[in-house]
Amino acid sequence: MRVSLLAVVSCIGLASAAPRPSPQWSDPPPDPANVPQFFAAETALNECPGYSASNVVKTDSTLAADLTLAGVACNQYSDDIRDLKLLVEYQTDKRLHVKIYDAALNVFQVHEQVLPRPENENAPSSAAALQFDLVEKPFSFTVRRKENDEILFDTSAAQLVFETQYVRLRTRLPKDPNLYGLGEHSDSFRLHTQGYQRVMYNSESPNIPNGKNLYGTHPVYFEHRGDKGTHGVFLLNSDPMNININQTEAGDQYLEYNTIGGVVDLYFMAGKQPAEVSSQYAEIVGFSAMYPYWTFGFHQCKYGYYDINMVAEVVANYSTANIPLEVMWTDIDYMNLRMDFTTDPNHFPLKKVQELVRTLHSRKQRYVLILDPGVKAVGNYSTYEKGVEQNVFLKHEDGTDYLGVQWAGAVVWPDWFAPNTQKWWQDEIASFMDPETGVDLDGIWVDMNEASNFCQDITCNPRKKAEDEKIPPVPTESPRPNTGRPIPGFPESFQPGSSGTKMVKARKSEPLHRRQSSNGTMKGLPDREWFEPKYAINNHRGKLSDFTIYTNTSNYDGTRQYDTHNYYGHMMAFATHSAMLARRPEVRPFVLSRSTFAGSGRKVTHWFGDNESSWEHYRTSIRQMLAWVAVHQMPMVGSDVCGFNANTDEKLCARWALLGAFQPFYRNHAEESAIPQEFYLWPVVADAARKAIDTRYKLMDYIYTALYYQTTTGVPMINPLFYLYPSDANTFGIQHQWFYGDALLISPVTTDYSDTVTYYLPKDIFYDYWTHERIEGHGANVTVSNVTLTDIPVHIRGGTIIPFRANSANTTTDLRKQDIWVLVCPGADGTAKGRLYLDEGERIEQPNVSEIEFTWDGNKLNTLGSFGFQGGNGGESITVANVQVLGQKMGKRDIKGPWKLTEGFSVSL
Ligand SMILES: *[C@@H]1O[C@H](CO)[C@@H](O)[C@H](O)[C@H]1NC(C)=O
Ligand SMILES: *[C@@H]1O[C@H](CO)[C@@H](O)[C@H](O)[C@H]1NC(C)=O
Ligand SMILES: *[C@@H]1O[C@H](CO)[C@@H](O)[C@H](O)[C@H]1NC(C)=O
Ligand SMILES: *[C@@H]1O[C@H](CO)[C@@H](O)[C@H](O)[C@H]1NC(C)=O
Ligand SMILES: *[C@@H]1O[C@H](CO)[C@@H](O)[C@H](O)[C@H]1NC(C)=O
Ligand SMILES: *[C@@H]1O[C@H](CO)[C@@H](O)[C@H](O)[C@H]1NC(C)=O
Ligand SMILES: *[C@@H]1O[C@H](CO)[C@@H](O)[C@H](O)[C@H]1NC(C)=O
Ligand SMILES: *[C@@H]1O[C@H](CO)[C@@H](O)[C@H](O)[C@H]1NC(C)=O
Repeated sequence: MRVSLLAVVSCIGLASAAPRPSPQWSDPPPDPANVPQFFAAETALNECPGYSASNVVKTDSTLAADLTLAGVACNQYSDDIRDLKLLVEYQTDKRLHVKIYDAALNVFQVHEQVLPRPENENAPSSAAALQFDLVEKPFSFTVRRKENDEILFDTSAAQLVFETQYVRLRTRLPKDPNLYGLGEHSDSFRLHTQGYQRVMYNSESPNIPNGKNLYGTHPVYFEHRGDKGTHGVFLLNSDPMNININQTEAGDQYLEYNTIGGVVDLYFMAGKQPAEVSSQYAEIVGFSAMYPYWTFGFHQCKYGYYDINMVAEVVANYSTANIPLEVMWTDIDYMNLRMDFTTDPNHFPLKKVQELVRTLHSRKQRYVLILDPGVKAVGNYSTYEKGVEQNVFLKHEDGTDYLGVQWAGAVVWPDWFAPNTQKWWQDEIASFMDPETGVDLDGIWVDMNEASNFCQDITCNPRKKAEDEKIPPVPTESPRPNTGRPIPGFPESFQPGSSGTKMVKARKSEPLHRRQSSNGTMKGLPDREWFEPKYAINNHRGKLSDFTIYTNTSNYDGTRQYDTHNYYGHMMAFATHSAMLARRPEVRPFVLSRSTFAGSGRKVTHWFGDNESSWEHYRTSIRQMLAWVAVHQMPMVGSDVCGFNANTDEKLCARWALLGAFQPFYRNHAEESAIPQEFYLWPVVADAARKAIDTRYKLMDYIYTALYYQTTTGVPMINPLFYLYPSDANTFGIQHQWFYGDALLISPVTTDYSDTVTYYLPKDIFYDYWTHERIEGHGANVTVSNVTLTDIPVHIRGGTIIPFRANSANTTTDLRKQDIWVLVCPGADGTAKGRLYLDEGERIEQPNVSEIEFTWDGNKLNTLGSFGFQGGNGGESITVANVQVLGQKMGKRDIKGPWKLTEGFSVSL
């Protein structure tokens, strides 16, 4: 979620009617007002002496050297650090690691527990695709692609500056480079290269503004040089930073890291195909988790579902409208006075919530609730009391709890580094989600975890603020036991005339415990300026400690929020994941997190935060998806469909229902004050949604297969066009079309209220997904008009084979009972191939899986592979009932089965 009026008005002072970006085909240019003077101190920095290298020691796969300040310290923003070390490791033949760090090992380095470092395989440098070349004095280095001598990275562009609160490293780049990544942002997919800045500082960012730091930190970019190859560069650093991409006055292109702490810890990935860079990045930050099959179903949420009957009514209305709903969600509305692990005794009485969940489960539907990190600091609240007893909250210097303000009022914040925090959080989740006594949830959504603090700055008095501004608001409306309407499919207590039950919790308060503090190796230099370091990053929420946990706050292990802020949310999400795993060790957890850090994808999922109901944000969702899935290795992502803030309308919502169906995570969600936007509310949206979900569900095994291969190889399940056509320069900047999997090219209408779309068809064979007509792509744009609100252009790339379910169903459980069809779409040479992965869908251990390869040689379909999945006991079908071959003399040919996928089969035309 969210920005409620409360947050808008009292916290950030935005007008509630956010300005609508002007409609445009191309991405919005950066607003110069957003990028204040990068280079104010440029001249002064030029006087910094740089470093010189000495004591160079080489082995077959490493290089180490001492770096010493090469002159008088410039102390531009803080104190220059005199003695550094350089370590170069040829970790694999495709991965080069270059690290520059303080010799004393005091400067902060990212916790191993947050980002476990990849294994160093000590590849011989002679065999490596990337070569490191050192210039000793003045110190600089280059990274070169050995095969063609392309210089990929060259730090001679400017002297290295390495101070206690400022580090600068600049690399030269070719003119007009094709750069991607550096999330989280809402800017163009291919990044701007002039006067452009990316800020890494996780913050609550209502309406996901362009050119600003958003909720997550992913300091990795991929650079594509056409036939010369694609490579990636990851800076493993969590400190707040500005990354400047610009040209010098002489016209030299560069990219420059400016961090206010941490070390230079770079990983270079050689590619050389785009998808290979994705794989290599997954090897560094971790491969994505496999998510349950049902998470590809359709999800519905809204902030403002007033009570449990309303939630039930939405579910019932979806059924009545015959729009398959897989997962129902509830935002903070369910909580008692916005407190985690409680339910509102009047509007969401526990007994009725339990009944709702039982009803949903009996219909093969799921339920997900939200949690916030801020725990209300109030004496009779057991979550808080236990946390105090177990010493799990962030502290002031004097050992008292550090308070902030969140939805529940004055809150304390879990210190994810404290030894008991995981257990405490896990126990709270286990008890709240106990199927007998609590709410038997299927997933958890963690929000506000940047962390977002309603305190505007360090002068805030949290208790007073909460009291003055009535946070949480005192409920004024009396309980409404039901809507007065029958709710079909739900038990008696949901029907007119019945009322709910109350849940009461009461506990005695305990005294506070003092904490210990520590200061150790690589935990960060002491005595820094925690609030306003001289080099300021361009945080759009203000100073470092504005609207978040104060950056001077020390974590249990002695590190400071200054250095670890950017993974507070990641740690909350991972703690939640572990808690889910402890509760049900056998099933894959589903955790959705607003805030993320590099590597979050290995356990959790993400949505693009609080967008707005605008055409611009409909388009933005495409480019964000491309970056998250293909670059940041977080495949299970999507936007709030139909938009979160402000009111949507039926045309936008109809288009978005279709757009979202071809993105991995598919959830309709809106803000409290926005009009309701459930798909059933407008006939045309309902039609669009039925078609979208019908298509998505038929293709679910195809996309689940693509997810599986992303989790095992890192090759993305969503492909930007240049991933599949890396030599075609027309594809490098495309950001409003994408491949869903590697076979389906999606080309939605992207112009406001238009029924016309101009899309690019690469030089290749395609088939219209809807008509199966064969179409030749000419490496040119195609314009189609009359794309109705229930249509979306989809093309199948020739040379592919798509397994799909013959029929859709109202839940993914029932979908799996449908027979499989195989669609063969021959390419220019008449052949095709595809894959199908089948498993039970939800468990972590999958002893019986099928990994099937389909090949078409022009006349004959062959199926090879492993055939372990037998269909389970849910009545799932593993029968191929029909094979369809497109592009034949008579158009489409059907070959009727059945064939059971317990072994391979072959069939000819
Ligand atoms: C980019 O660099 C040019 C000089 O090369 C400078 O004039 C311009 O201000 C820079 N852009 C920004 C946004 O600072
Ligand atoms: C459900 O449908 C009924 C009948 O159309 C409608 O009156 C009601 O407002 C709907 N409820 C919700 C929560 O959408
Ligand atoms: C799905 O359809 C089946 C049978 O048609 C029905 O029993 C079941 O309740 C439906 N489920 C939902 C969620 O609508
Ligand atoms: C951080 O600064 C605040 C505000 O000055 C102060 O109250 C608090 O004790 C400090 N915390 C630590 C851990 O130094
Ligand atoms: C805690 O105590 C206050 C004041 O007595 C009361 O208003 C509130 O409902 C109690 N909260 C819980 C969770 O019992
Ligand atoms: C922490 O480390 C610094 C050196 O970086 C040292 O000066 C200081 O005494 C240490 N403090 C403690 C409490 O160990
Ligand atoms: C296709 O159209 C877009 C938008 O008008 C344009 O930017 C792009 O250059 C065109 N591509 C080709 C290959 O003509
Ligand atoms: C648009 O499509 C509809 C339905 O296919 C058709 O009836 C109509 O004639 C088309 N209009 C134009 C202008 O092509």
